[in-house]
Amino acid sequence: MTLGVVILAAGQGTRMRSKLPKVLHSLAGRPLLDHAIQAAKRLSPVRVVVVYGHGGEQVKAALSDPDLIWVEQKEQLGTGHAVAQALPALQGVDQILVLYGDVPLIRDRTLSSLTTACMYTDLALLTAAFDNPVGYGRILRDANGKIERIVEHKDASASELEIKEINTGILIAKSEALEGWLERVDNSNSQGEFYLTDVVELAVADGVCVQSSQPEDLDEVAGVNDCAQLALLERRFQEWQADRLMRKGLSLRDPNRFDLRGSIEFGQDVTIDINVLLEGEIELGSDISIGANTVIRNCRIGDGVLIRENCVLENAVIGANCTIGPFARIRPDTELAADAHIGNFVEIKKSQVGSGSKINHLSYIGDSSIGSKVNVGAGTITCNYDGVNKHRTLIGDGAFIGSNSSLVAPAEIGAGATIGAGSTISGKTPDNTLTLTRAKQLSIKGWKRPVKKLKE
Ligand code: UD1
Ligand code: CA
Repeated sequence: MTLGVVILAAGQGTRMRSKLPKVLHSLAGRPLLDHAIQAAKRLSPVRVVVVYGHGGEQVKAALSDPDLIWVEQKEQLGTGHAVAQALPALQGVDQILVLYGDVPLIRDRTLSSLTTACMYTDLALLTAAFDNPVGYGRILRDANGKIERIVEHKDASASELEIKEINTGILIAKSEALEGWLERVDNSNSQGEFYLTDVVELAVADGVCVQSSQPEDLDEVAGVNDCAQLALLERRFQEWQADRLMRKGLSLRDPNRFDLRGSIEFGQDVTIDINVLLEGEIELGSDISIGANTVIRNCRIGDGVLIRENCVLENAVIGANCTIGPFARIRPDTELAADAHIGNFVEIKKSQVGSGSKINHLSYIGDSSIGSKVNVGAGTITCNYDGVNKHRTLIGDGAFIGSNSSLVAPAEIGAGATIGAGSTISGKTPDNTLTLTRAKQLSIKGWKRPVKKLKE
């Protein structure tokens, strides 16, 4: 049986009070709409159609996915009208599943059980029991528990408002039948809208036994209407994700203070302390410890690495057994070979650092290639920028750079060279030689400190 998915995303989302279309607001680093799209794609449908309205071009541009079919709903005349707009793009599929661009947490298992419920009938609804069903459509069943119809909150009688079983909005139907029902839906209701929910009554009139299934977790069917709901669902997403990762052996000191906005691979015995944020694609080896308050974006980190507290690492490759931090900043295009030590208040950008090299205190290293077993003294700065162009600094294996040196690029420090503390170096310095630039030290005999003048 072939499946097509319609994702409704035409609503404006005024309650977000944002210039950004609601479905582009981000949850775990991805647009809300992308969560629905990925949930759809995991079902291997033959087509995914997104019904868009407000901010259409912006939404399309943000989700440049060649597999998607975009259908514009110029006026938001109701959910039934929205699904009808997608039907021409879904010709030939056997079943149609309706999802929502602002309902991001729907799980695969819930959708597959809904699909199963529709196997031998023409319509199945995802319903849920809510303690507080205010605002939702209610599921009306007969004495035998058979679904009869859905009544919207605004159209419901006092006794119907007592019903706790609500319509989540997510449903699946045989496509030919759905097309027929949608042609017959009208807008004679309190909101003057074409309700998708009216297909239930029409199906029952056709003798269809409407089936239902329920989500495992109520947050799966929760929609985002404002920033508070967005934050709530972000937490739920993070909770579920952390739970999954911990079951695979990732050791989180406190799953409530861990955020992953992207994907992660990790080996054995990786420990992550509190308030760590991981973004993008993260690859971690084994025996890694990540200290509190650290942010890591798109990095590959080797076995045995120790990252101490308060570090920021971005687009970098960290070799095995390196130690980093506390308070280190590793910027894009940095590669640390094995056993490098990067200490506090050190910033490294677009540089390679060889194995066993140490940059332990208060340095800026930019556009540099540093060999192995190099010692970069405290306060060493590469002056990589002349105000117009960036230049490289090369430091040979085994070099020793004295503290508080300025390496004015382009500069090349020989292998085994020593640079005297406080030097300003440019150009080339020879291998295995001490180079220093330093004013002669002077002591003045008999010099007296000034004294305060007495008032007259
Ligand atoms: C809908 C259901 C209700 C259910 C509830 C669950 C109908 C008539 N009612 O009500 O039974 O309990 O969802 O949240 O379906 N949309 C469009 N185009 C439109 C109208 C809506 O794309 O013309 C999209 C919206 O962007 C939104 C979704 O469809 O994502 C739901 O629309 P909304 O107006 O919020 O429906 P509800 O009144 O909440
Ligand atoms: Ca709604």
